[in-house]
Amino acid sequence: MRIFITGAFGQLGSEIEQAFEGSDFFLGGRSESDITDQGIIKTIVDFRPDLVIHTAAFTDVDVCEVKSDKAFKVNAFGTRNVAVGAEKAGAKLIYISTDYVFDGKSDEPYDEFSGTNPINVYGMSKLGGEEFIKHLSRRFFIVRSSWLYGKTGKNFVKTILNIAREKDELRVVNDQRGAPTYVKDLAEMISKIARTEAYGLYHASGGGYCTWYEFALEMLHLADIKKEVMPTSSSELNRPAPRPANSALTSIALKQIGIEPRQWKEAIKEFMADMES
Ligand SMILES: NC(=O)c1ccc[n+]([C@@H]2O[C@H](COP(=O)([O-])OP(=O)(O)OC[C@H]3O[C@@H](n4cnc5c(N)ncnc54)[C@H](OP(=O)(O)O)[C@@H]3O)[C@@H](O)[C@H]2O)c1
Repeated sequence: MRIFITGAFGQLGSEIEQAFEGSDFFLGGRSESDITDQGIIKTIVDFRPDLVIHTAAFTDVDVCEVKSDKAFKVNAFGTRNVAVGAEKAGAKLIYISTDYVFDGKSDEPYDEFSGTNPINVYGMSKLGGEEFIKHLSRRFFIVRSSWLYGKTGKNFVKTILNIAREKDELRVVNDQRGAPTYVKDLAEMISKIARTEAYGLYHASGGGYCTWYEFALEMLHLADIKKEVMPTSSSELNRPAPRPANSALTSIALKQIGIEPRQWKEAIKEFMADMES
């Protein structure tokens, strides 16, 4: 398979190659293949991909809130460029979207048939990307995931472990619930989805859910770090972008193609072991 990856050097993008062993890749980073530049359309077509995996995004949720023009430029209009390129090339397209398309008011996890209603600019701009994909692509998969962590880049797991090693006490938010997802698991799920003709929308996250506080307790336990962790609230943090109180994802669509996500506690255990090896 010939695979064009946008955001190839990001947290998820850098895990994709391993999940598609034996394929030929175009690894698109921002410098040589900026998705906001219409030239990306020709770059995609010239590579003659069978599959485009679009992971590139402006992912800093708080900065998106204050730089909304940039958020929509990258996440919505940039996605339009990628969709046009993939369609012109006759390739399948996978777009990675987010749990933040939901408002978090439900007590239940959200499935693919739940109604969207983003409460921050990042979520709105990613939903804008979904709309372009639906209108411009014929063979697409929209894959929503949540709370990503992996070896590359910044993420909650690395931040908590670093703080825990430096400070005596940690304060972690206990009023946001979601499904932590190891990017290695997500890349494997993407690879299985991409090999089907079962187009459409998928929720692909770790199995089960927890709060950030519960997630922090679990990783400190696994790392055998004994520090006091205090539960705190989102209002105490007072960040620019509101977050949904519940953005846990569950999937009806994955079951149709025989995929069962791994439970988040199993995945974080493997990640910690991978980090040590
Ligand atoms: N992180 C999460 O918890 C989470 C949760 C749900 C969904 N998602 C979605 O999952 C996908 C992957 O997330 P991630 O955590 O891997 O993100 P990431 O580590 O921030 O990687 C995103 C990549 O996109 C690149 N990029 C940004 N603007 C670009 C542009 N204009 N043209 C080309 N490339 C550009 C970035 O390059 P630079 O480093 O040079 O800016 C970066 O390499 C994203 O679509 C995100 O919306 C993430």
